[in-house]
Amino acid sequence: STWANLGLQDSASPLMEQLIFFHDHALLILVMITVLVGYLMFMLFFNSYINRFLLHGQLIEMIWTILPAIILVFIAFPSLRLLYLLDEINEPSVTLKSIGHQWYWSYEYSDFNDIEFDSYMIPTNELETDGFRLLDVDNRIVLPMNSQIRILVTAADVIHSWTIPALGVKVDGTPGRLNQTNFFMNRPGLFYGQCSEICGANHSFMPIVIESVPVNYFINWISKNLNS
Ligand code: CUA
Repeated sequence: STWANLGLQDSASPLMEQLIFFHDHALLILVMITVLVGYLMFMLFFNSYINRFLLHGQLIEMIWTILPAIILVFIAFPSLRLLYLLDEINEPSVTLKSIGHQWYWSYEYSDFNDIEFDSYMIPTNELETDGFRLLDVDNRIVLPMNSQIRILVTAADVIHSWTIPALGVKVDGTPGRLNQTNFFMNRPGLFYGQCSEICGANHSFMPIVIESVPVNYFINWISKNLNS
């Protein structure tokens, strides 16, 4: 994301791409309706059509009841398609468990024994000159790109939300529950996210950073951490 970016971030996963397509589709329908209704309301003020005997018009009422229903179907079906697409788990090759705490995230790589760590926001006064204020963390998540990844989200105290805009991921971490989602990162880079469930005084200060790296880098990182 960059300054004054009011739209969605560029996608880094196929699911986010689909979400952007759906957003644009819905927005287009919304603009068309707004323009039409706005035009009709505006024109009402400037015509002088009067009919003292007009009580009902069965045909026009049929049309303006059924037509909006048909338009809504064009939003409902793509929306439903996306919903099921987001819920599909496509044989993940890595699983990451993230646990929300007040106010930091902790992570466990359940496929590899003993890899678990906490991830705290870097305070502004300790930030590097090229660091992102309120967004960078001390321990980043490292995950392989071009691989299907499963995320398990839960929380230890109150409800948090594990949210990464560029990947189209937003899952609530709820105490006593284990939620699941998945994503596929189609490019390398750093992907930033934040907690997005109001979880207390320092809710704004528990960001998420993913390092998307090639698979062999990921394996190196895993084996390095296994040995230590
Ligand atoms: Cu954790 Cu908001």
